[in-house]
Amino acid sequence: MAAGVAGLGLSWSSKLAQRPNSTPSPSSSSRSSGNCSIKMDVSVDEQKKTFTLKKSEQAFNIAKPEGFSKSRTVAGTGARCNLVHLTTAITTTSVFKLRLSKREFHGEWPLAVARSSRLPLLDQELMPGGVNSPVRAFKSVGGQPIIMDSVKGSKMWDIDGNEYIDYVGSWGPAIIGHADDEVLAALAETMKKGTSFGAPCLLENDLAEMVISAVPSIEMVRFVNSGTEACMGVIRLARAFTRREKIIKFEGCYHGHADPFLVKAGSGVATLGLPDSPGVPKGATYETLTSPFNDISTVKNLFDENKGEIAAVILEPVVGNSGFIAPKPGFLEDLQKITKENDALLIFDEVMTGFRLSYGGAQEYFGVTPDLTTLGKVIGGGLPVGAYGGRREIMEMVAPAGPMYQAGTLSGNPLAMAAGIHTLKRLKEPGSYEYLNKITSELVQGIVDAGKKAGHAFCGSYISGMFGFFFTEGPVYEFEDAKKSDTAKFAKFYRGMLEEGVYFAPSQFEAGFTSLAHTSEDIKRTIEAVEKVFRQV
Ligand SMILES: Cc1ncc(COP(=O)(O)O)c(C=O)c1O
Repeated sequence: MAAGVAGLGLSWSSKLAQRPNSTPSPSSSSRSSGNCSIKMDVSVDEQKKTFTLKKSEQAFNIAKPEGFSKSRTVAGTGARCNLVHLTTAITTTSVFKLRLSKREFHGEWPLAVARSSRLPLLDQELMPGGVNSPVRAFKSVGGQPIIMDSVKGSKMWDIDGNEYIDYVGSWGPAIIGHADDEVLAALAETMKKGTSFGAPCLLENDLAEMVISAVPSIEMVRFVNSGTEACMGVIRLARAFTRREKIIKFEGCYHGHADPFLVKAGSGVATLGLPDSPGVPKGATYETLTSPFNDISTVKNLFDENKGEIAAVILEPVVGNSGFIAPKPGFLEDLQKITKENDALLIFDEVMTGFRLSYGGAQEYFGVTPDLTTLGKVIGGGLPVGAYGGRREIMEMVAPAGPMYQAGTLSGNPLAMAAGIHTLKRLKEPGSYEYLNKITSELVQGIVDAGKKAGHAFCGSYISGMFGFFFTEGPVYEFEDAKKSDTAKFAKFYRGMLEEGVYFAPSQFEAGFTSLAHTSEDIKRTIEAVEKVFRQV
């Protein structure tokens, strides 16, 4: 790696830190190294964490630094992102505004992200954080999110043409691989008839039949447009059916961004270290009780303290939103027993685990049938879909069959139904889940072995096509255990893996996903990269 270049970001960092006040003021920065030289006027506004770089007449020089064979536009560590931006800016406009958090200026940045970071800084002027869903931002791993251009099978390509083996799978839906030919063909065919009817279509029947015959708890289903909507609907239904208001959720479980669930939620809320979100009225979460995952005695106490008041217990049967956490043997069975004894409903949020752990989801995998279930991700085959369903007597409360109101302009949309149907058809073929299990076990075993061999406190586990690993000795039974992870080390590991062309979720607190399109060759390449990066972090 070009040693001289690494100083660039740090120099700017100290420049920012030294600014005595927040008034924008011109200053000058000139740095050089064997590979790169840069001279420009810098106007800093520390309070807003913005600064403006003005083109100077000096030549702006970028050479490919040693050790970055795959990078085509980069110029070293530390300030590589800025340099790429500047290259772009300098050819288009002479003044370019960068909005950067302090984090991005601190320390080493072995980031391949710079390869495709031309737009994110601009986007932050247009969209909060430059993203439309918080976990896509690289807040907890540093740097800018990579802008992707296309996906196929197990791979993604960024706007600079760099290839990544993808273990995010669009956060779950891409279980048969991205942009599957049959799904695309079905979409093209369906699209010929239009994109939305706002009236019933036969495809809704087809997907409903497939879901009902696959998922043990579901006798009737309602399609919606996202997992969030599914969870909102199911809680309203549980409250309507039981005529009670309190619910129990588990710390680190994420059930979408609706108000009642933003209490000790996982996913982006955990990744960004957010407390309960501002804007959620106290009244909305007042009836939400929480317990650590895998802690049946706390659940028992909550039932004892709130006799006759608890409508439902909702959980991710395998947690994917605080990293991957499996239930202890007997935990799901105990929950089923307690809810039954207390005339409350048991809800499995299978937005992530549905059709992923097995064709019938976690409930089939563990042999525990809840009263209600939510689905999403996989059943939309990459298009926006969610669903909730369960026992007929409960589902018949949903409007227009019953009085519990819930609706959606695009719900049951023919395109989403078609993508879901073709995705489930493929998953139903013999050997699908055996393959997912095999490929994921090779991956996780390889990663854990490499981590331990390199001397890191490390653990990891998986079920079928869902996995996770933590930079802690483990075991991880609940969110508090997951939080013991060395997240700084994870961030370094993450950035190193990007440099090697492997795309994991940009957070220690998210599960990973494999697909039917991942090959043994993908896994081999990933493990070789992991071994290399583990030696560096
Ligand atoms: C278990 C679970 N429930 C609900 C949701 C919310 O789904 P969506 O993002 O489609 O609204 C998610 C999203 O990741 C999830 O993992």
